[in-house]
Amino acid sequence: MFILIKPDLEHLPSYVGALKKDWSPNNLRTAEEAREHLAKIEEDVAAFVDNLDDPEAKAGPVILPDGSQVQRLPGYARWMWDGEFCGAIGFRWKPGTTELPPTCLGHIGYSVVPWKRGRGYAKQALGLLLQQIDIPGLDFIDITADTSNIASHKVITGNNGVFIERFTAPASLGGKETLRYRIHLPVGKSNRPDAQLVSPIARKTAE
Ligand SMILES: CC(C)(COP(=O)(O)OP(=O)(O)OC[C@H]1O[C@@H](n2cnc3c(N)ncnc32)[C@H](O)[C@@H]1OP(=O)(O)O)[C@@H](O)C(=O)NCCC(=O)NCCS
Repeated sequence: MFILIKPDLEHLPSYVGALKKDWSPNNLRTAEEAREHLAKIEEDVAAFVDNLDDPEAKAGPVILPDGSQVQRLPGYARWMWDGEFCGAIGFRWKPGTTELPPTCLGHIGYSVVPWKRGRGYAKQALGLLLQQIDIPGLDFIDITADTSNIASHKVITGNNGVFIERFTAPASLGGKETLRYRIHLPVGKSNRPDAQLVSPIARKTAE
């Protein structure tokens, strides 16, 4: 069964295994981000896991691909899990608005480990995350993808994403030609802001 889980110490070894096999949670800073995560786990494993669920943006600045730093937005990561770690999906937002700073390309980002791609995991993960989002003032979310990232376009359109515009990403984020999609959030949203992002049945199995 495929589920999303809130990062925790129990599932961390599988996450570490993926980082050591050259998977990265960050598509724009691949090797650097993987190295940094391994270093932080080594330094203080409890703080590392805690900071992956960060609705108060307490984990310090975000480092951009060009090395510059910007203020972190509230956000959290969830891990894709099919019995082992499959990938990560992250969500961030600016309180009270649908807008994002120019240095944050979209509300949601995801990455599946290369050895589990093409199984529908990214599409399912986005669908599960969308069902659970319930942030006041956030009626839609934007997701961006490189023009060449056909798999990501399909992940988004497969979750009712609508093409909005083509633009050039800021130089600090790589400067690539990028597509922006928008997804209006479902009406039947969860009313539990701290809900684990799994179905009740899946949550029972995961615990
Ligand atoms: C993009 C990515 C997340 C897709 O993950 P995935 O789990 O393999 O995607 P899925 O299996 O859910 O596939 C979604 C759709 O894309 C299609 N697809 C998958 N890989 C594809 C590929 N290489 N080329 C074209 N289409 C592809 C699938 O057939 C499916 O299409 P369908 O909905 O018509 O059936 C994954 O390739 C990845 O992690 N890439 C690196 C990080 C990245 O680019 N993240 C997105 C940043 S915007």
